Amino acid sequence: MNKISLPLNSKMLTKEFTYGVATASFQIEGASEKRLPCIWDTFCAKENTVVDGSNGDIACDHYNHWKEDIELIDSLGVDAYRLSISWPRVITESGELNSTGVNFYLDILNELKKRNIKAFVTLYHWDLPQHLEDNGGWLNRETAYKFQQYADLISQAFGDRVHSYATLNEPFCSAYLGYEVGVHAPGLVGRENGKKAAHHLLLAHGLAMSVLTKNSPDSLNGIVLNFTPAYAIDDKPENITAASFADDYFNQWYIKPIFDGKYPEIMQQLPQSCHPDIHREDMAIISHPVDFLGVNFYTRAVYQASDVDYFDELPATGKLTDIGWEVFPKAFSELLISLNERYNLPPVYITENGAAIDDKIVNNEVIDQDRIDYYQQHLLAVNDAIESGVDIQGYFAWSLMDNFEWAEGYLKRFGIVYVDYESQLRTIKNSGHAYKTLISNR
Ligand code: FCB
Repeated sequence: MNKISLPLNSKMLTKEFTYGVATASFQIEGASEKRLPCIWDTFCAKENTVVDGSNGDIACDHYNHWKEDIELIDSLGVDAYRLSISWPRVITESGELNSTGVNFYLDILNELKKRNIKAFVTLYHWDLPQHLEDNGGWLNRETAYKFQQYADLISQAFGDRVHSYATLNEPFCSAYLGYEVGVHAPGLVGRENGKKAAHHLLLAHGLAMSVLTKNSPDSLNGIVLNFTPAYAIDDKPENITAASFADDYFNQWYIKPIFDGKYPEIMQQLPQSCHPDIHREDMAIISHPVDFLGVNFYTRAVYQASDVDYFDELPATGKLTDIGWEVFPKAFSELLISLNERYNLPPVYITENGAAIDDKIVNNEVIDQDRIDYYQQHLLAVNDAIESGVDIQGYFAWSLMDNFEWAEGYLKRFGIVYVDYESQLRTIKNSGHAYKTLISNR
Protein backbone atom coordinates (compact mmCIF):
# COMPACT_ATOMS: atom_id res chain seq x y z
CA MET A 1 0.00 0.00 0.00
CA ASN A 2 1.28 3.36 -1.03
CA LYS A 3 -1.00 5.11 1.40
CA ILE A 4 -1.12 6.11 5.04
CA SER A 5 -4.57 5.78 6.54
CA LEU A 6 -6.20 6.46 9.89
CA PRO A 7 -9.59 5.47 11.33
CA LEU A 8 -12.26 7.70 9.83
CA ASN A 9 -13.31 9.13 13.19
CA SER A 10 -9.72 9.97 14.18
CA LYS A 11 -9.02 13.42 15.61
CA MET A 12 -5.90 13.27 13.47
CA LEU A 13 -8.11 13.61 10.40
CA THR A 14 -9.47 16.97 11.52
CA LYS A 15 -7.98 20.36 10.77
CA GLU A 16 -7.36 20.95 14.48
CA PHE A 17 -4.51 18.48 14.29
CA THR A 18 -1.27 20.06 13.04
CA TYR A 19 0.95 18.23 10.56
CA GLY A 20 4.46 19.37 9.84
CA VAL A 21 7.96 18.50 8.76
CA ALA A 22 11.12 19.14 10.77
CA THR A 23 14.77 20.03 10.14
CA ALA A 24 17.69 21.47 12.12
CA SER A 25 20.13 24.24 11.24
CA PHE A 26 23.45 22.38 11.27
CA GLN A 27 21.99 19.42 9.43
CA ILE A 28 20.74 21.36 6.39
CA GLU A 29 22.07 24.91 6.13
CA GLY A 30 25.71 24.73 5.05
CA ALA A 31 27.23 28.24 4.60
CA SER A 32 29.44 27.59 7.60
CA GLU A 33 31.78 30.39 6.50
CA LYS A 34 28.97 32.89 7.04
CA ARG A 35 28.66 32.17 10.77
CA LEU A 36 30.87 31.62 13.81
CA PRO A 37 32.26 28.11 14.25
CA CYS A 38 30.24 25.73 16.39
CA ILE A 39 31.13 22.56 18.32
CA TRP A 40 30.00 20.36 15.44
CA ASP A 41 32.48 22.02 13.03
CA THR A 42 35.27 21.22 15.48
CA PHE A 43 34.01 17.69 16.15
CA CYS A 44 33.72 16.87 12.42
CA ALA A 45 37.28 18.09 11.83
CA LYS A 46 38.65 15.48 14.27
CA GLU A 47 39.50 12.01 13.08
CA ASN A 48 37.17 9.04 13.69
CA THR A 49 34.21 11.09 14.82
CA VAL A 50 31.84 11.11 11.82
CA VAL A 51 31.59 7.79 9.96
CA ASP A 52 32.05 9.20 6.44
CA GLY A 53 34.47 11.93 7.51
CA SER A 54 32.00 14.59 6.37
CA ASN A 55 30.95 17.92 7.90
CA GLY A 56 28.25 20.58 7.72
CA ASP A 57 30.06 23.04 5.45
CA ILE A 58 27.57 22.58 2.61
CA ALA A 59 25.01 20.02 3.82
CA CYS A 60 21.79 20.60 1.82
CA ASP A 61 22.94 24.14 1.01
CA HIS A 62 19.65 25.30 2.44
CA TYR A 63 21.25 28.70 3.07
CA ASN A 64 21.09 29.27 -0.69
CA HIS A 65 18.07 27.06 -1.46
CA TRP A 66 15.74 28.18 1.33
CA LYS A 67 13.17 29.69 -1.04
CA GLU A 68 12.67 26.55 -3.08
CA ASP A 69 12.75 24.51 0.13
CA ILE A 70 9.84 26.49 1.53
CA GLU A 71 8.04 26.10 -1.76
CA LEU A 72 8.64 22.36 -1.39
CA ILE A 73 7.30 22.41 2.18
CA ASP A 74 4.23 24.28 0.97
CA SER A 75 3.75 21.79 -1.85
CA LEU A 76 3.44 19.01 0.75
CA GLY A 77 0.41 20.79 2.18
CA VAL A 78 1.69 20.81 5.76
CA ASP A 79 0.38 23.22 8.40
CA ALA A 80 3.72 23.80 10.10
CA TYR A 81 7.47 23.75 9.67
CA ARG A 82 9.82 23.00 12.58
CA LEU A 83 13.24 24.56 12.06
CA SER A 84 16.10 25.45 14.37
CA ILE A 85 18.11 28.63 14.70
CA SER A 86 21.88 28.48 14.50
CA TRP A 87 23.05 30.34 17.61
CA PRO A 88 26.51 31.03 16.05
CA ARG A 89 24.80 32.57 13.02
CA VAL A 90 22.70 35.09 14.90
CA ILE A 91 24.83 36.12 17.90
CA THR A 92 28.31 37.65 17.66
CA GLU A 93 31.17 36.71 19.94
CA SER A 94 30.50 39.81 22.01
CA GLY A 95 26.86 38.80 22.43
CA GLU A 96 25.07 41.12 20.01
CA LEU A 97 22.69 40.21 17.21
CA ASN A 98 24.35 39.53 13.87
CA SER A 99 22.03 41.21 11.40
CA THR A 100 23.00 39.08 8.39
CA GLY A 101 22.15 35.93 10.28
CA VAL A 102 18.98 37.36 11.76
CA ASN A 103 17.82 38.53 8.32
CA PHE A 104 18.30 35.04 6.91
CA TYR A 105 15.76 33.74 9.41
CA LEU A 106 13.47 36.75 9.12
CA ASP A 107 13.19 36.09 5.38
CA ILE A 108 12.27 32.47 6.11
CA LEU A 109 9.76 33.40 8.82
CA ASN A 110 8.16 36.04 6.61
CA GLU A 111 7.85 33.61 3.73
CA LEU A 112 6.26 31.01 6.01
CA LYS A 113 3.81 33.57 7.31
CA LYS A 114 2.91 34.61 3.77
CA ARG A 115 2.12 31.01 2.96
CA ASN A 116 0.22 30.44 6.19
CA ILE A 117 2.66 27.84 7.47
CA LYS A 118 3.17 27.95 11.23
CA ALA A 119 6.79 28.36 12.33
CA PHE A 120 7.87 26.02 15.13
CA VAL A 121 11.28 27.38 16.11
CA THR A 122 13.83 25.45 18.16
CA LEU A 123 16.49 27.68 19.67
CA TYR A 124 19.11 25.02 20.34
CA HIS A 125 19.54 21.94 18.20
CA TRP A 126 23.12 21.18 19.29
CA ASP A 127 25.21 23.80 17.46
CA LEU A 128 26.82 25.53 20.43
CA PRO A 129 29.14 28.41 19.45
CA GLN A 130 32.71 27.07 19.74
CA HIS A 131 33.90 30.11 21.74
CA LEU A 132 31.45 29.12 24.48
CA GLU A 133 32.76 25.56 24.43
CA ASP A 134 36.26 26.97 24.78
CA ASN A 135 34.98 28.44 28.01
CA GLY A 136 33.65 25.10 29.27
CA GLY A 137 30.50 24.79 27.16
CA TRP A 138 27.63 23.11 28.99
CA LEU A 139 29.95 22.22 31.86
CA ASN A 140 30.05 25.92 32.65
CA ARG A 141 26.97 27.29 34.43
CA GLU A 142 27.57 30.60 32.68
CA THR A 143 26.51 29.04 29.34
CA ALA A 144 22.94 28.76 30.64
CA TYR A 145 22.88 32.54 31.14
CA LYS A 146 24.42 33.10 27.70
CA PHE A 147 21.57 31.00 26.29
CA GLN A 148 19.04 33.15 28.10
CA GLN A 149 20.58 36.30 26.57
CA TYR A 150 20.46 34.73 23.12
CA ALA A 151 16.81 33.69 23.62
CA ASP A 152 15.99 37.20 24.79
CA LEU A 153 17.57 38.98 21.80
CA ILE A 154 16.31 36.60 19.15
CA SER A 155 12.73 36.46 20.40
CA GLN A 156 12.61 40.26 20.36
CA ALA A 157 13.99 40.31 16.82
CA PHE A 158 11.47 37.73 15.57
CA GLY A 159 8.48 39.60 17.00
CA ASP A 160 5.18 37.85 16.35
CA ARG A 161 6.39 35.70 13.46
CA VAL A 162 6.82 32.53 15.53
CA HIS A 163 3.96 30.19 16.38
CA SER A 164 5.96 28.11 18.84
CA TYR A 165 9.36 28.25 20.52
CA ALA A 166 11.17 25.19 21.85
CA THR A 167 14.14 26.11 24.00
CA LEU A 168 16.18 22.92 23.51
CA ASN A 169 16.05 19.89 21.29
CA GLU A 170 16.78 16.65 23.17
CA PRO A 171 18.98 17.76 26.07
CA PHE A 172 19.66 14.04 26.64
CA CYS A 173 21.64 13.92 23.41
CA SER A 174 23.59 17.09 24.17
CA ALA A 175 24.45 15.95 27.69
CA TYR A 176 24.85 12.18 27.39
CA LEU A 177 26.04 11.71 23.81
CA GLY A 178 28.12 14.91 23.83
CA TYR A 179 29.60 15.09 27.33
CA GLU A 180 29.24 11.59 28.84
CA VAL A 181 30.02 9.06 26.10
CA GLY A 182 31.56 11.42 23.55
CA VAL A 183 29.95 10.15 20.33
CA HIS A 184 28.57 13.62 19.61
CA ALA A 185 30.20 17.05 19.85
CA PRO A 186 32.10 18.14 21.86
CA GLY A 187 33.18 14.52 22.36
CA LEU A 188 33.84 14.54 26.10
CA VAL A 189 33.43 11.52 28.37
CA GLY A 190 32.58 10.82 32.00
CA ARG A 191 29.41 10.42 34.02
CA GLU A 192 30.22 13.53 36.02
CA ASN A 193 30.42 15.58 32.83
CA GLY A 194 27.17 14.18 31.51
CA LYS A 195 25.20 14.96 34.62
CA LYS A 196 26.73 18.40 35.04
CA ALA A 197 25.97 19.30 31.41
CA ALA A 198 22.39 18.00 31.79
CA HIS A 199 21.78 20.28 34.75
CA HIS A 200 23.10 23.36 32.97
CA LEU A 201 21.04 22.55 29.88
CA LEU A 202 17.88 22.24 31.96
CA LEU A 203 18.76 25.47 33.73
CA ALA A 204 19.22 27.14 30.34
CA HIS A 205 15.78 25.90 29.36
CA GLY A 206 14.15 27.35 32.47
CA LEU A 207 15.96 30.68 32.17
CA ALA A 208 14.94 30.96 28.52
CA MET A 209 11.32 30.10 29.36
CA SER A 210 11.06 33.21 31.50
CA VAL A 211 12.22 35.52 28.70
CA LEU A 212 10.10 33.78 26.06
CA THR A 213 7.02 34.12 28.23
CA LYS A 214 7.75 37.82 28.53
CA ASN A 215 8.81 38.58 24.93
CA SER A 216 6.47 36.22 23.12
CA PRO A 217 3.46 35.61 25.35
CA ASP A 218 1.24 34.50 22.47
CA SER A 219 3.45 31.73 21.16
CA LEU A 220 3.48 28.17 22.49
CA ASN A 221 6.70 28.03 24.48
CA GLY A 222 8.16 24.73 25.65
CA ILE A 223 10.84 22.11 25.13
CA VAL A 224 11.49 19.08 22.92
CA LEU A 225 12.57 15.88 24.68
CA ASN A 226 13.44 12.51 23.20
CA PHE A 227 12.40 9.22 24.74
CA THR A 228 13.70 5.70 24.19
CA PRO A 229 11.33 3.63 26.35
CA ALA A 230 13.13 0.99 28.41
CA TYR A 231 11.82 -2.58 28.43
CA ALA A 232 13.06 -5.47 30.56
CA ILE A 233 14.10 -8.60 28.67
CA ASP A 234 11.74 -10.66 30.86
CA ASP A 235 9.77 -10.52 34.11
CA LYS A 236 12.65 -11.34 36.44
CA PRO A 237 12.66 -8.71 39.19
CA GLU A 238 16.35 -7.87 38.71
CA ASN A 239 15.78 -7.20 35.00
CA ILE A 240 12.72 -5.06 35.70
CA THR A 241 14.79 -3.04 38.18
CA ALA A 242 17.56 -2.62 35.60
CA ALA A 243 15.09 -1.38 32.96
CA SER A 244 13.49 1.01 35.38
CA PHE A 245 16.91 2.41 36.34
CA ALA A 246 17.74 2.90 32.65
CA ASP A 247 14.40 4.65 32.12
CA ASP A 248 15.15 7.08 34.94
CA TYR A 249 18.68 7.62 33.70
CA PHE A 250 17.92 8.23 30.01
CA ASN A 251 14.32 9.47 29.95
CA GLN A 252 12.86 10.66 33.24
CA TRP A 253 16.07 12.55 34.10
CA TYR A 254 15.08 15.25 31.59
CA ILE A 255 11.32 15.45 32.09
CA LYS A 256 10.89 15.04 35.85
CA PRO A 257 12.81 18.23 36.74
CA ILE A 258 10.54 20.16 34.36
CA PHE A 259 7.20 18.88 35.65
CA ASP A 260 8.02 17.79 39.22
CA GLY A 261 10.94 20.11 40.00
CA LYS A 262 13.11 17.11 41.03
CA TYR A 263 15.55 14.63 39.60
CA PRO A 264 14.65 10.91 39.73
CA GLU A 265 15.55 9.20 42.98
CA ILE A 266 18.20 7.04 41.32
CA MET A 267 20.44 10.10 41.59
CA GLN A 268 21.06 9.01 45.19
CA GLN A 269 22.53 5.74 43.89
CA LEU A 270 25.08 7.53 41.72
CA PRO A 271 28.41 8.50 43.28
CA GLN A 272 28.36 11.92 44.93
CA SER A 273 30.78 13.23 42.28
CA CYS A 274 28.03 12.76 39.67
CA HIS A 275 25.48 14.88 41.48
CA PRO A 276 25.21 18.21 39.70
CA ASP A 277 25.84 21.38 41.65
CA ILE A 278 22.22 22.43 42.19
CA HIS A 279 21.77 25.99 43.45
CA ARG A 280 18.85 26.76 45.73
CA GLU A 281 16.74 28.45 43.05
CA ASP A 282 17.55 26.05 40.20
CA MET A 283 14.71 23.55 40.41
CA ALA A 284 12.14 26.35 40.57
CA ILE A 285 13.67 27.94 37.46
CA ILE A 286 13.76 24.59 35.64
CA SER A 287 10.12 23.80 36.45
CA HIS A 288 8.78 27.03 34.90
CA PRO A 289 5.40 26.10 33.34
CA VAL A 290 5.54 25.15 29.66
CA ASP A 291 2.79 25.64 27.07
CA PHE A 292 3.59 22.41 25.27
CA LEU A 293 5.81 19.37 25.43
CA GLY A 294 7.53 18.20 22.26
CA VAL A 295 8.11 14.44 22.13
CA ASN A 296 10.62 12.84 19.76
CA PHE A 297 10.34 9.09 19.34
CA TYR A 298 12.20 6.61 17.14
CA THR A 299 12.67 3.32 18.95
CA ARG A 300 12.82 1.45 22.27
CA ALA A 301 15.66 -0.30 24.14
CA VAL A 302 15.74 -3.62 26.02
CA TYR A 303 17.67 -4.15 29.27
CA GLN A 304 18.81 -6.81 31.70
CA ALA A 305 20.60 -6.67 35.03
CA SER A 306 24.37 -6.32 35.00
CA ASP A 307 27.11 -7.33 37.43
CA VAL A 308 29.32 -4.39 36.55
CA ASP A 309 26.91 -1.52 35.90
CA TYR A 310 23.41 -0.34 36.80
CA PHE A 311 21.99 -2.06 33.70
CA ASP A 312 22.99 -3.81 30.52
CA GLU A 313 21.46 -2.73 27.20
CA LEU A 314 20.89 -5.59 24.79
CA PRO A 315 21.51 -5.33 21.04
CA ALA A 316 18.41 -4.46 19.01
CA THR A 317 16.58 -7.38 17.42
CA GLY A 318 13.51 -7.75 15.20
CA LYS A 319 12.85 -5.41 12.31
CA LEU A 320 15.50 -2.67 12.20
CA THR A 321 15.74 0.56 10.22
CA ASP A 322 18.91 1.41 8.28
CA ILE A 323 20.44 3.03 11.37
CA GLY A 324 19.95 -0.17 13.38
CA TRP A 325 17.00 1.00 15.46
CA GLU A 326 14.22 -1.49 16.16
CA VAL A 327 10.78 -0.75 14.71
CA PHE A 328 8.49 -1.07 17.73
CA PRO A 329 5.47 1.26 17.44
CA LYS A 330 3.73 -0.17 20.50
CA ALA A 331 6.39 1.52 22.65
CA PHE A 332 5.27 4.86 21.22
CA SER A 333 1.65 4.65 22.41
CA GLU A 334 2.74 3.10 25.71
CA LEU A 335 5.22 5.94 26.23
CA LEU A 336 2.66 8.67 25.56
CA ILE A 337 0.11 7.05 27.84
CA SER A 338 2.62 6.56 30.66
CA LEU A 339 3.94 10.13 30.46
CA ASN A 340 0.37 11.34 30.66
CA GLU A 341 -0.22 9.22 33.75
CA ARG A 342 2.97 10.29 35.47
CA TYR A 343 2.97 14.03 34.78
CA ASN A 344 0.56 16.88 34.54
CA LEU A 345 1.25 17.40 30.86
CA PRO A 346 0.40 20.42 28.74
CA PRO A 347 -0.65 19.72 25.13
CA VAL A 348 1.83 17.37 23.45
CA TYR A 349 3.27 17.71 19.95
CA ILE A 350 5.16 14.86 18.35
CA THR A 351 8.07 16.98 17.17
CA GLU A 352 10.05 14.17 15.50
CA ASN A 353 9.34 10.67 14.27
CA GLY A 354 10.65 8.88 11.21
CA ALA A 355 12.93 6.20 9.81
CA ALA A 356 16.30 5.89 8.12
CA ILE A 357 16.00 3.75 5.00
CA ASP A 358 18.66 2.82 2.48
CA ASP A 359 16.89 4.72 -0.31
CA LYS A 360 17.63 4.35 -4.00
CA ILE A 361 16.56 6.88 -6.56
CA VAL A 362 15.63 5.32 -9.91
CA ASN A 363 14.10 7.36 -12.74
CA ASN A 364 13.40 10.22 -10.36
CA GLU A 365 11.46 7.95 -8.07
CA VAL A 366 12.19 6.70 -4.54
CA ILE A 367 10.10 3.69 -3.58
CA ASP A 368 10.51 3.79 0.19
CA GLN A 369 7.80 1.37 1.22
CA ASP A 370 9.48 0.61 4.56
CA ARG A 371 9.32 4.27 5.51
CA ILE A 372 5.63 4.46 4.53
CA ASP A 373 5.00 1.39 6.72
CA TYR A 374 6.90 3.03 9.58
CA TYR A 375 4.83 6.21 9.34
CA GLN A 376 1.63 4.21 9.03
CA GLN A 377 2.34 2.21 12.21
CA HIS A 378 3.57 5.17 14.23
CA LEU A 379 0.72 7.48 13.26
CA LEU A 380 -1.66 4.73 14.37
CA ALA A 381 0.25 4.53 17.67
CA VAL A 382 -0.27 8.28 18.15
CA ASN A 383 -3.95 7.81 17.37
CA ASP A 384 -4.14 5.04 20.01
CA ALA A 385 -2.62 7.37 22.60
CA ILE A 386 -5.13 10.09 21.71
CA GLU A 387 -7.95 7.59 22.10
CA SER A 388 -6.58 6.72 25.53
CA GLY A 389 -6.91 10.35 26.54
CA VAL A 390 -3.53 11.93 25.80
CA ASP A 391 -3.88 15.49 24.47
CA ILE A 392 -1.73 15.32 21.33
CA GLN A 393 -2.15 18.22 18.97
CA GLY A 394 0.36 17.71 16.21
CA TYR A 395 2.89 15.52 14.45
CA PHE A 396 6.10 16.39 12.62
CA ALA A 397 7.86 13.99 10.27
CA TRP A 398 11.63 13.78 10.69
CA SER A 399 12.74 14.89 8.30
CA LEU A 400 11.65 17.16 5.51
CA MET A 401 14.71 16.05 3.54
CA ASP A 402 17.81 13.88 3.81
CA ASN A 403 20.54 15.71 5.69
CA PHE A 404 23.70 15.50 7.81
CA GLU A 405 22.85 12.74 10.29
CA TRP A 406 25.40 13.71 12.97
CA ALA A 407 27.95 10.96 13.67
CA GLU A 408 26.58 8.99 10.69
CA GLY A 409 27.32 11.83 8.27
CA TYR A 410 25.39 11.68 5.01
CA LEU A 411 25.12 7.89 5.01
CA LYS A 412 21.72 7.68 6.71
CA ARG A 413 18.70 9.12 4.97
CA PHE A 414 15.71 10.20 7.06
CA GLY A 415 13.97 12.52 4.57
CA ILE A 416 10.57 12.22 2.97
CA VAL A 417 12.35 14.17 0.24
CA TYR A 418 15.50 12.75 -1.38
CA VAL A 419 18.55 15.00 -1.66
CA ASP A 420 21.20 14.46 -4.32
CA TYR A 421 24.15 16.09 -2.55
CA GLU A 422 26.08 16.61 -5.82
CA SER A 423 23.39 18.55 -7.65
CA GLN A 424 21.36 19.61 -4.59
CA LEU A 425 18.30 18.36 -6.43
CA ARG A 426 15.33 17.48 -4.21
CA THR A 427 12.89 14.70 -5.16
CA ILE A 428 9.78 13.88 -3.14
CA LYS A 429 9.92 10.22 -2.12
CA ASN A 430 6.84 7.99 -2.16
CA SER A 431 6.58 8.51 1.61
CA GLY A 432 6.40 12.27 0.99
CA HIS A 433 3.57 11.73 -1.49
CA ALA A 434 1.77 9.46 1.00
CA TYR A 435 2.17 12.04 3.78
CA LYS A 436 0.84 14.75 1.50
CA THR A 437 -2.20 12.68 0.56
CA LEU A 438 -2.97 11.92 4.21
CA ILE A 439 -2.83 15.63 5.04
CA SER A 440 -4.90 16.75 2.09
CA ASN A 441 -7.58 14.14 2.75
CA ARG A 442 -8.56 15.73 6.04
C1 FCB B 1 17.18 13.06 16.68
C2 FCB B 1 17.68 14.44 16.33
C3 FCB B 1 17.56 14.78 14.87
C4 FCB B 1 17.84 13.60 13.96
C5 FCB B 1 17.09 12.38 14.41
C6 FCB B 1 17.30 11.17 13.54
O1 FCB B 1 17.81 12.61 17.82
O2 FCB B 1 16.99 15.41 17.05
O3 FCB B 1 18.40 15.88 14.62
O4 FCB B 1 19.19 13.40 13.83
O5 FCB B 1 17.43 12.06 15.73
